[in-house]
Amino acid sequence: MTARQQLLIGLLTGALAWCLGYLIAPPMTGRTALGYQALPEGMAVAASTGEQSMVDNGRRLYADACLSCHQPLGQGLSTVFPPLRGTDWVTGSPERLVLAVLHGITGPIQVNGTTFNSFMPGFSQQLNDEELAAVLNYIRNSWGNQGSPLDSTLVADVRQRSATRQAPWRSQAELESFLDDLFPETTEPGTP
Ligand code: HEC
Repeated sequence: MTARQQLLIGLLTGALAWCLGYLIAPPMTGRTALGYQALPEGMAVAASTGEQSMVDNGRRLYADACLSCHQPLGQGLSTVFPPLRGTDWVTGSPERLVLAVLHGITGPIQVNGTTFNSFMPGFSQQLNDEELAAVLNYIRNSWGNQGSPLDSTLVADVRQRSATRQAPWRSQAELESFLDDLFPETTEPGTP
């Protein structure tokens, strides 16, 4: 084999390796498409205050805690996991939303006219008030949703008022009657 042939083979092998890498790379780095892993760690820490970091935190927490069931675009999954896109649970009453995610819910609930009868665990142990506010603000303002801002002090208040609750809500009806007792001053559940 001449030196020239060797060089040619070397170049072709290199090009092939690059192509393969190119083909394989997207699935491996798929989660960076969500944005947050692309941030160098120092940057996320440096920007730990302010609105943008709240959005980044929300996105990251969503990916960690909610995405597996509610899916990347909040579209839900078949009849088991309800959507978060365009539901009045998400953009409506902040208190009802916090209660649902804080303690979890099972049994029949209405989401966009469909009855789901499945199970979601509570996140009261896993997420603190700021984290819960960040992830809820994220879902309230993603995928076309437009919800009013939800403050971590509201999460703290709802958490404290429902502190004796241990188990997930057994149905939408149970959650809503608890909500009525807890906040008699608030209007119909579902109104923003
Ligand atoms: C293990 C799967 C699972 C995970 C993880 C999960 N959910 Fe749910 N979620 C459900 C199911 C199932 C329901 C419906 C429960 C029922 O049928 O009673 C639900 C209902 C909801 C609802 C009310 C209905 C709707 O679709 O609007 C909201 C809001 C919600 N989840 C938000 C969240 C958020 C925020 C997170 C992450 C912090 C999360 N969920 C994590 C499975 C899950």
